[in-house]
Amino acid sequence: IPASGAIGAGQQAAGGAPAASKEVTVLFGSQSGNAQGLAKKFAKTLEANGFQVTLSSMSDFKTNQLKKVQQLLIVVSTHGEGEPPDNAISFHEFLHSKRAPKLEGLNYSVLSLGDSSYELFCQTGKDFDARLEELGATRLYDRVDCDVDYAEPAAEWLQGVVNRLKEGQAGAGTSAAAVSGAAAVIASESAYDRSNPFKAEVLTNINLNGRGSNKETRHLELSLEGSGLTYQPGDSLGIYPHNDPALVDLLLERTKWEPQAQVTVNKQGEVRPLREALIEHFEITTLTKPLLEKLAPLAANKEALELLQAGNEEQLKAYIHGRDLVDFVSDYGPLQGSAQDVVSLLRKIPARLYSISSSQAANPEEVHLTIGALRYEAHGRERSGVCSIYCAERLQSGDAVSVFVQNNANFKMPEDPSTPIIMVGPGTGIAPFRAFMQEREEIGATGESWLFFGDQHFVTDFLYQTEWQRWIKDGVLTRMDVAFSRDTDQKVYVQHRMQQHSKELFAWLQKGAAVYICGDEKNMAKDVHRTLLEIIETEGGMSREQAEQYLAAMQQNKRYQRDVY
Ligand code: 2AM
Repeated sequence: IPASGAIGAGQQAAGGAPAASKEVTVLFGSQSGNAQGLAKKFAKTLEANGFQVTLSSMSDFKTNQLKKVQQLLIVVSTHGEGEPPDNAISFHEFLHSKRAPKLEGLNYSVLSLGDSSYELFCQTGKDFDARLEELGATRLYDRVDCDVDYAEPAAEWLQGVVNRLKEGQAGAGTSAAAVSGAAAVIASESAYDRSNPFKAEVLTNINLNGRGSNKETRHLELSLEGSGLTYQPGDSLGIYPHNDPALVDLLLERTKWEPQAQVTVNKQGEVRPLREALIEHFEITTLTKPLLEKLAPLAANKEALELLQAGNEEQLKAYIHGRDLVDFVSDYGPLQGSAQDVVSLLRKIPARLYSISSSQAANPEEVHLTIGALRYEAHGRERSGVCSIYCAERLQSGDAVSVFVQNNANFKMPEDPSTPIIMVGPGTGIAPFRAFMQEREEIGATGESWLFFGDQHFVTDFLYQTEWQRWIKDGVLTRMDVAFSRDTDQKVYVQHRMQQHSKELFAWLQKGAAVYICGDEKNMAKDVHRTLLEIIETEGGMSREQAEQYLAAMQQNKRYQRDVY
């Protein structure tokens, strides 16, 4: 695997007749905004190279237009366990259904984003690639599957695609005119972005939970002064965390590497002392299958290789779950080769995204975050979430932290500020709704708003309690229903409160309210979704199928949006 992170990257264009059209359709499917951001930049680059570009989210694309498309680029991420992102679901379903047309006239290429620590890495991109071929379309350029550090392989893919499209323009066989600086166009769009993060000063960092709580939720305020960064409610902030120095020291102890040895940390050949490089540059807390394939041959204990043998997939999965590089070295080390040999196999430490909890209209030079500190025990050792604990324990007022803004088109306030909104955000899911309320207060929006919040205990876990109460008093927030799950014998969750007020909730939907859900995906968001369906079914006197259509129509009209993780 090349250091760039591209896996199975096609170095050569696949065979197939290049088309001569100047029109290119770029479709994206994006959950957190990465694929969307790339697609936007690709569209600009393509236009700069003389193409006419139609750029669209998969959910906005009219599938009856598909037969007319001659050149299609797909940029899609994979969500959860191999699932398409929300705004790719309907297009993915359509293409895989019997309704999908034959696509002999189509030339296409797929860029897929994913995370190699998941078993079904880049599955959605693979699905599209295979299915389009099955429908008779011609692969213009081989699919590239990108790992979390996607900037470089994505730029390479685009370069390859544009070269191939230009070949089509010039007639087959002509050598490709170089895409002048496609990568440069991608990298230099704004002063600060994912590849050039802004060093924001920490202004405030406090624990929102009271004494005795099971939880620690940090409220951070960062300065954006001088950055020129802008954001909207619903957007996320990317943070590049540092690894825990104590974990790095444990790794150095187990590997017997020299902490001050100089190692190269990137393709540009930048050199840093090993200890610093392990803290700031390399991912050491996740074991992935691709990493083990490279590490196992270096391990003194040859049993490491058994994990990778065919038939041992379950064993491998069980081993890498919750373990890190220190575990691997302890279990199978020592490792042959120098520290440099090993660190060059590691991924760059990936940025973590957090939903922004402030409105920039209300705080022009600041951005606020609401971050749950993650601590747990696994395989006999105390562990911590890399970024949340970096923020909770090692960032203090005056420190600098590397950040960038990630726009999120899947979680936007209604364009019309008089539209009623229903917000469901237990735990740290509350973050974007604080931003929504700040924004509505600042612009004097007249739309009604209804918040469902939940957490464990009223006394210790009512995040931003005084702010909600003030907004209720001032009429910015119309109503609030709370569910404290561990104050009573029986658990009460946000969806129970929704169910209790189902009549009114449905009335809000009928008058055009938009519903927003933020927070835990695995349980909460699924249960809330089910509850919404039940409410629509019961209160609307609909069948399950009709209720599903009602909610799907809301989703299509951006009246049902989710920011879940
Ligand atoms: P619990 O931890 O007591 O189970 C924020 O974490 C809140 O979400 C907590 O009150 C938590 O309750 C609750 N929660 C846990 N699972 C949930 C689910 N499936 N649906 C809604 N809320 C849930």
